[in-house]
Amino acid sequence: MICLSPHKLPMKTPLFVQLYQPQAACVRQELLRGLTHNGQAGAAWIAPKFLYDALGSRLFDAITELPEYYPTRTEADIVRVHGHAIARSVPSHATLIDLGAGNCAKAARLFDSLLPRRYVAVDISVDYLREALDQLQRRYPTLDMLGVGQDFSHTLALPAEVGAPADGPKVFFYPGSSIGNFTPDQALAFLRQVHAVCAQSSGSGLLIGVDLLKDAAELEAAYDDALGVTAAFNRNLLVHVNRLCGSDFLLPDWVHLARFNSELSRVDMHVQARRAVRVQWSGGERHFAQGECVHTESSYKWTVAGFSALLQQAGFSVPTVWTDADTPEQGRFAVMWAHA
Ligand code: TRP
Repeated sequence: MICLSPHKLPMKTPLFVQLYQPQAACVRQELLRGLTHNGQAGAAWIAPKFLYDALGSRLFDAITELPEYYPTRTEADIVRVHGHAIARSVPSHATLIDLGAGNCAKAARLFDSLLPRRYVAVDISVDYLREALDQLQRRYPTLDMLGVGQDFSHTLALPAEVGAPADGPKVFFYPGSSIGNFTPDQALAFLRQVHAVCAQSSGSGLLIGVDLLKDAAELEAAYDDALGVTAAFNRNLLVHVNRLCGSDFLLPDWVHLARFNSELSRVDMHVQARRAVRVQWSGGERHFAQGECVHTESSYKWTVAGFSALLQQAGFSVPTVWTDADTPEQGRFAVMWAHA
């Protein structure tokens, strides 16, 4: 059967490439190492990618609708209000590479103004990507779409299907201030990798969303909402970990904790033991004292000047900056475009 679009052109089908093939044994090893050793935040840790199982991805979508969680909404407003200016800076007919695409909604809002020649959605949760791309293809029947299942948190290695340098400019899109989940050193290393790909085809660059430093109360509310959705999202990670490594975390033993660390300019997310608990898995166990934490994620908050400097250190141009305020430094959130 051939599906016809409203314009009577055959509807394309998204192509999928699976690069992230986690070996169950390695995943388990990585998780257990974090549970038995103390990491950079001085506590046991579970990598934030484990927040995003099927339920976690949906809970995160719900977070973006919460009144306290301003980043998603503010970023969307900036993109809407400054849409024309963004389209004047960012090349059209490019290969749009969406890093951490999730439900693909943020990138889809750019399609009508940027007119990408190909859309590449990269995410760790491939099955979620599949659903999102299939739906999006119905709205944009003739757009070339590629879904890539990849864990790009360590290295950014794109498959050949993304296209050769001769295929024209690449526009990397990294919204939602996910860059804030890297330490500044990791963020620099990551930006350098994006820059290296951008440097191969002229006109390429990065359109990135960056959450800005603001007062602690507003930051902590954004990461600990009154309804408890963020708490559910963070604690759901323990259910996911139980499934992956056969541990026996009990939800009633653990509470969500979000604290702003002004020295490091970051919000630290933990799950904290309500009482002394013993967590067991086949081949090991760990005792947690009452109040002891497992670190799950940190979210760094940048100034416009600080992040501009980081982009330039990575090899990018001085960025063009759009925010939700009249003067950039007063903004709550920034969208920046920098070319290679
Ligand atoms: N990367 C998102 C952020 O830093 C994810 C997030 C939102 C998150 N709320 C959270 C991660 C709570 C852990 C706990 O904004």
